[in-house]
Amino acid sequence: MTTSAATTLAIHGAEPASPTPVPFMKPQLHREDIDAAIAVLESGMLRAAKKCAELEERFAKASGAKHGLTCANGTTALQLAYRALFQRGDEVLVPAWTYIATASMLAAEGMVPVFVDCLEDTFQMDPADAAKKITPKTRGIAATHLYGCPVDIDAFDALGRKHNLKVVYDAAQTHLARYNGKGLGAYGDIVTYSFYATKNLGTGEGGLVTTNNDTLARDMSLLRSHGETDKYLHERIGFNYRMNDITGAIGCSRLTRLPEETRARQNAAARFDEILAEIDGLAAPTVTPKAEAVWHLYTVKMDLSKFTCTRDEFCDALKAEGIPTAVHYPRATCDQPALAPWNKRNTPVATSLTSRVFCLPMHHELTEAHFTAIAEALNKVAGAYRR
Ligand SMILES: Cc1ncc(COP(=O)(O)O)c(C=O)c1O
Repeated sequence: MTTSAATTLAIHGAEPASPTPVPFMKPQLHREDIDAAIAVLESGMLRAAKKCAELEERFAKASGAKHGLTCANGTTALQLAYRALFQRGDEVLVPAWTYIATASMLAAEGMVPVFVDCLEDTFQMDPADAAKKITPKTRGIAATHLYGCPVDIDAFDALGRKHNLKVVYDAAQTHLARYNGKGLGAYGDIVTYSFYATKNLGTGEGGLVTTNNDTLARDMSLLRSHGETDKYLHERIGFNYRMNDITGAIGCSRLTRLPEETRARQNAAARFDEILAEIDGLAAPTVTPKAEAVWHLYTVKMDLSKFTCTRDEFCDALKAEGIPTAVHYPRATCDQPALAPWNKRNTPVATSLTSRVFCLPMHHELTEAHFTAIAEALNKVAGAYRR
């Protein structure tokens, strides 16, 4: 770093690009969401009832699926899908670069997670590496549509058909995204969602599965609620993975705004693409061909050879400029201590991304002033640390 460049940075006492920090996310509820929750509280019908049913119907329709089933969270959504499709001991291909639940719920259900590397440009699970890791014991693929961007669905569906594998798509971060002109519900055997507070559609906690298969829908509905087919008649072993109507009401209310909020995220991503195109050493995320992303997170990749600093130092300097960032993920999923028994150390891209990526603020309330401040901060920090 040159002395003159150093003096331009807020981390060294200069004026920040944004004196008021840009919000990293905007998970706040609107008045109508709160009113919808209050109406349920006042009704006394707190369990899963009309509002969960409405959310199931509307969310399934909006994502192009026949059936939707609400559940407690995205983790239980994965458990429902895995239990409905796989047996203990089955090998299931899973990304080495995702949130832990995609892989850990396979292990929790007695299946064998087989880690697949991700692509350098899209960060999504690599179909070519997946093909190499198929063995006679492979029964399925659990692919995450990461950061709001669909994976190469054509490739995974083809792999599934060729090897007779069941395909689960974890769309916890990817509500209402599209692929080849259709909603994500059109693809795979089961699609799972999370409505955790910070997700594009956040209800606090919450989840949902979609499927186009009537038998799978029935199986998952039984698993979700103690295998109960009639009052106190339990035909199968199941769990209590149910949502409740307070959550359902917030979900319905937020779903009404989600298409508009998604367009705002897409506009923000387009602005970030323009800003990053001008900065050597910082790469915008690439979207999978045929995919329409919904930008849960906007992840920038650094070419560390172009800078004199580490990713963390770069992010500390951005924070001082009033631009908060986050790292998704500071550790590859395969490198989590809990998943050590399944880590074959053959996913080098995923492992190396941990020190090279960071996420910019992304939400539906970013303004022109925010974009200007983010552009200024990125240029200042990149300039100061230019090698
Ligand atoms: C890709 C992915 N899968 C699964 C989950 C788990 O969802 P939940 O936190 O609702 O259990 C998350 C949540 O962050 C996620 O990002």
